[in-house]
Amino acid sequence: MAFVVAIDGPVAAGKGTLARALAARFGFAYLDTGSLYRAVGSKLLRQGGDPSDADFAAKIAQSLETSDLSAPDLRAEAVGLAASKVASIPAVRAALLEYQRRFASQPPQNAPGAVLDGRDIGTVICPDAPVKLFVTASDEVRAERRFKELQAKGEAVLLADVLADLRRRDAQDASRATAPLKPAEDAHLLDTSGLDIEAAVAAAAKLVSAKLSP
Ligand code: DC
Repeated sequence: MAFVVAIDGPVAAGKGTLARALAARFGFAYLDTGSLYRAVGSKLLRQGGDPSDADFAAKIAQSLETSDLSAPDLRAEAVGLAASKVASIPAVRAALLEYQRRFASQPPQNAPGAVLDGRDIGTVICPDAPVKLFVTASDEVRAERRFKELQAKGEAVLLADVLADLRRRDAQDASRATAPLKPAEDAHLLDTSGLDIEAAVAAAAKLVSAKLSP
C-alpha cells in the first residue's frame, strides 16, 4: 500500500507548493486534484455550458480525458470559479472519485507514496492517510499571493477583486453539502501566513518522516 499525504485547505494557502516540495523530497507522486475540477469547469465553459447545470457538468466529468488537464486557461480566475461551482454537484464529485483513489493507492511509476492536495482529501478521498495537513493563511495573505501570481501571468486584475473572488470561492467550497472544505479531525493545522516556503516544507516533512519511520 502506498504512503499517502493528504493536503487540504482554501484557495492560495500554499497547498500546491508544499505538496510539490514534499513529493520531490520523498520521491512520491503528486496529484493536484483541483486541476480535475478546473478541467471540468474549463471544458464546460468552452462548450458554452452553465456551471450550475448538474446534468451537463456530470456528463463532462464522466468523459474527462487526460488532454483536458492541459487546457491553456486551467489557472484562470473564471475557470476557478466555475470549478468551485461544478465541485458542488455530487455527480461530478462521484465521477472524479475513483481516479483520485486509484492514484493514491497505486501511484504512477511505482512511486512508494502519493501526495494529493485539494479540499476533501483527508475527509473523503483518503480518510486513512497516515499524514493529513490542513493548510491555511489569512485572507489578505492569500489574496496577495494569488494577485502576484496572476500579475506575473499578465492578467489585469485588482487586489480587491482577487480578495472578493477568493472569499466567494472559499464560502462556496465550505458551505456545499457534499464533501465541503473542512479539516479532517486528525489533520495537522499549518498556518502559512507568517511562514516562508522552506519553513512550511520543513514542518510538514518532519510529520511525514515521523510516520514513515516512527
Ligand atoms: O485547488 P483549486 O483552487 O485549483 O481548486 C479549484 C476548485 O475545485 C475549488 O474552488 C474547489 C474544487 N475542488 C474541490 O471541490 N475538491 C478538491 N479536492 C479540489 C478542488
